[in-house]
Amino acid sequence: MSSSHTVSTASAQPRHNRLLLLSLVGGLVVAAILIAHGAAWWSAPLAVVVALVLAHLLALALVIGVGVAMTRSGDGEGAPRGELIRRPRLYDWMVRALSGGREAEMRATWLELADVRRGDAVLDVGCGTGTLLLAAAARVGPQGTLAGVEAAPEMAARARDKAAAEGVAVDVREGSADTLPFADGSFDVVFATLVFHHLPADVQLGALQEMRRVLRPGGRVVIVDLPHGHDHGHGHGHGGGLFSMIHGGAGGRLVDFDGELRSLGAAEVTRHGAGMRALHATRAVFPATGGAGR
Ligand SMILES: C[S@@+](CC[C@H](N)C(=O)[O-])C[C@H]1O[C@@H](n2cnc3c(N)ncnc32)[C@H](O)[C@@H]1O
Repeated sequence: MSSSHTVSTASAQPRHNRLLLLSLVGGLVVAAILIAHGAAWWSAPLAVVVALVLAHLLALALVIGVGVAMTRSGDGEGAPRGELIRRPRLYDWMVRALSGGREAEMRATWLELADVRRGDAVLDVGCGTGTLLLAAAARVGPQGTLAGVEAAPEMAARARDKAAAEGVAVDVREGSADTLPFADGSFDVVFATLVFHHLPADVQLGALQEMRRVLRPGGRVVIVDLPHGHDHGHGHGHGGGLFSMIHGGAGGRLVDFDGELRSLGAAEVTRHGAGMRALHATRAVFPATGGAGR
C-alpha cells in the first residue's frame, strides 16, 4: 500500500457498548431477583456473566441466521456468478441494524471519499437496493446521472421502487459486475460497496477491469469492503465485527485491489477508513488523460 490515511472511522464501539450495558443490567436484575429469593451472593456475578455470554450468542445467531437466509447463488447457467441477495427488505433492515443507525453517515463518508460532485455521472456496481445512489442524488444534482448494476432481480426492483418513491432518476440494470452494460468512459465515479466479498476471485478481477473501462479520464473508483486478509493488524479497520462474522472472514478471499488498480493505470491508490470499524475503503484516481489501461 503506497499511502494510507483515514477519512472517518466511526467506531462500532457504541453499539457494542449498548449490548454490554443491556446484558449487564439484565444480569443484575436477574441476580437481584435470585438473591431476593434466597440465592447466595455469588449468584450476582454468575448471572451477569451468563447474561453477557447469552446476549452475544443471541446477537451472533441472529446476524448469521439473517445473513444466510438472505443469500443465494445465481440461478442456472450463464447467471451472474457470486452470492446474490434475494431479500431486499431484510437486507435494508440488516444494514441499518449493523451500522447501528449510522447508515446515512457511513454512506456519506463513501460519497465524500469519491469526491462526488455536481454534474457527475455515477455508477454503483452491485448496487443492491440503491441506497448509495439515492444518497448521491443530492450531490450530483439534476445535471448528474445515476446508474446501478445488480445481479439479483429482487434487489434491482427494490432499487427502482425506492428511486421512484423519492422521485430520483436512476438507471438500474440487471447484470454482472464483470460484464458492465455501459460504453467505455461513461462515468466520473464508479463504486463497488460491500460487493467484492460476494464474488469469486476471477469475477472480482473482471469487475475491476470493467470498472476501469467504463471510467472517464480523471475518474475515481471507490471500493468498500471487509478488511483484506493481509490487513489484519494494520490498525484502522481491524476487527471485522459482525460483517466479518456473517461472511466467515471472507475478507481473506479478496483480491489485491490496490495492486490491480495500479496495474490498470491508476495514478493514485489509497486506503481509508469507511465510516465503520469493520470496513475498509480503497480509492483509486485515474489520470486525467489517456484511456483504459492494460
Ligand atoms: C452486500 S450487497 C451490497 C449492496 C450495495 N452495494 C450496498 O452497499 O448496500 C452485495 C450485492 O452484490 C450483488 N451481487 C452478487 N454477485 C453479483 C455480481 N456478479 N454482479 C453484480 N452484483 C452482484 C448481490 O445480489 C447484492 O445485492
